[in-house]
Amino acid sequence: MDTKESPIKEIKSKISIVDLVSSYVPLKKSGRNYKGLCPFHNEKTPSFMVNPDLGMFKCFGCDAHGDQFEFIQQVEGVDFPEALKILGQKTGVEVKNFKSSEDATRSSQRDRYLAINSQAAEFFHFILTKHKIGAEALEYLHKRDVSDTTINEFKLGYAPNSWHSLADFLNKKGKRPEEIIGVGLSILGDNGRAHDRFRGRVMIPFFNLSNEVIGFTGRTLLPGEEAKYVNSPESPVFSKSNFLFGLNAARLEIKKSDLAIIVEGQMDFLTPFQAGFKNIVASGGTALTLGQLNLLGRYTKNLALCFDGDKAGEMAMRRAINLCEEKGFNVKLIILPKEFKDPDECVRHDPEIFKKAVNDALNAYDFYFVSAAKRFDLNSAVGKKEASNFLLPIIKEIPSIIEQAHYIQKAADVLKVLPEVISRALQSTAVKVDRDFKDDHQAISVSRGVAGREEFLLSTLLKAPINDILPIIDELAKKDFSENNQSRFEYLKEHLLLEPDMDITEFVTQSLEPDYWQNLLLLDSGDFKLEILLDLVKYLKKEALNTRLRELGGKIKTAEVASDKDKVAELRLESKEIYDKIGSL
Ligand code: UTP
Ligand code: MN
Repeated sequence: MDTKESPIKEIKSKISIVDLVSSYVPLKKSGRNYKGLCPFHNEKTPSFMVNPDLGMFKCFGCDAHGDQFEFIQQVEGVDFPEALKILGQKTGVEVKNFKSSEDATRSSQRDRYLAINSQAAEFFHFILTKHKIGAEALEYLHKRDVSDTTINEFKLGYAPNSWHSLADFLNKKGKRPEEIIGVGLSILGDNGRAHDRFRGRVMIPFFNLSNEVIGFTGRTLLPGEEAKYVNSPESPVFSKSNFLFGLNAARLEIKKSDLAIIVEGQMDFLTPFQAGFKNIVASGGTALTLGQLNLLGRYTKNLALCFDGDKAGEMAMRRAINLCEEKGFNVKLIILPKEFKDPDECVRHDPEIFKKAVNDALNAYDFYFVSAAKRFDLNSAVGKKEASNFLLPIIKEIPSIIEQAHYIQKAADVLKVLPEVISRALQSTAVKVDRDFKDDHQAISVSRGVAGREEFLLSTLLKAPINDILPIIDELAKKDFSENNQSRFEYLKEHLLLEPDMDITEFVTQSLEPDYWQNLLLLDSGDFKLEILLDLVKYLKKEALNTRLRELGGKIKTAEVASDKDKVAELRLESKEIYDKIGSL
């Protein structure tokens, strides 16, 4: 039996959230909180708060929040077990004994496979950069404008054009032949002898999010070669459909810019990345899979696809777009000028052209119009019919009526018919799904980054020493707050008066709305200043009175319409009193 505290608690007690975050982001003390520039989105003024009492961070700009584990998960882009590993290492807390013995065997095999890949990557990299066998490959990369920095950063290499050089090297390092085969670096031939899978190829290692080498792709240097690229096979450490090339290097930038540029090929990743497009990943020549989308979803919901139109094929593209939209991603499509075959060529010719193409990316609907115009002869009756058969089901499915109206108009323009004709045709177009409209009139709450004056005031009341705020509490009345906050104020006031020494954290966790109060605690209310608070109180009182005044205005109108003179006079009097009150504040 393990009687020790859980490693999670132990880790949290060993490394404070402030220390941990500080090792990534410079923080400054601000009242009870620390604040800094959010590492998860681009900002110029700090809205990223860390609260040592709660052991939490929260960004009021992008809503990232959590404890030490969540911070590591988000900043390193790893899942929980990996975060546990990282924090275990940082704090010296043993986290391994969590695993069953079966897991342990599997993980040690995994570790050995990763070690083989890592040594292979070193070998290839050495050959490319230091050995004369690699000179030709190095020249090839330089000709393709791949810089030495990029070669080193992505540990590019060269696999010699020989049958056994890698296996020999690995054997000498004590690696087992069956595991070299297992990880896909050797292939067992019919004669029972193994040989190297990658021969005479520029080697591009695949790094996972922990920067471990899980596989490779190799580009041939020979023009006539059957396969231009050879990839590692699926293995216990590599799953093609759950891997995105370059995500390890691009994820923070993807998160910050809130956009991922997705290209097909590894070379289409490397040269744009080198040119400064750091929020880019390569799918590796496949249409996007669900696994790849799940990976991306941790960093952004906005995708800009730059796929080779003719090769992917219209339908494959549409399926990919539908999958993305189904999963809640916003998809745009980058269209390169015709003279460029792919992003690599475009960027090498002129990065500005690629930049413009990214900025001008079309949303999926516009893209369909462009492709309809390419495919159908819109001047003939038949072409119009074909184009409308293609476009109308798409238009019919557009969830926003306003957006739909836009595309009805556009279809009318393109097909040169009246918009009414399109609308009528849409009625008989088959629909696929019923859309349920989400209620986006949710109450504005502090958790969504909109902290109003009431929140600021409540936040300060929550945090300031009780004696300092007693005069404020006396000044304030429930009706000074908007409806949502009246009961919150009451609740806080009651606690402050009944239990002046209350433990804030307890107060937060025991309340009916722990999230709400936690956010208030994390809100940057700076240092307590009585004048500011009194100002705020005044402001709230004025607001409340103004609201009352508006209500009275409405009542007066109704009374006037009803010619109820007494009522009008009574209401006017009340209005006047409120006016005076506002004036005296
Ligand atoms: P492309 O044929 O468009 O190649 O394949 P590319 O990326 O432009 O390569 P370069 O510029 O000629 O070097 C796109 C992607 O499809 C995958 C690779 O990931 C490639 O980058 N692919 C292609 C393969 O896996 N195997 C192949 O034989 C060809
Ligand atoms: Mn290319």
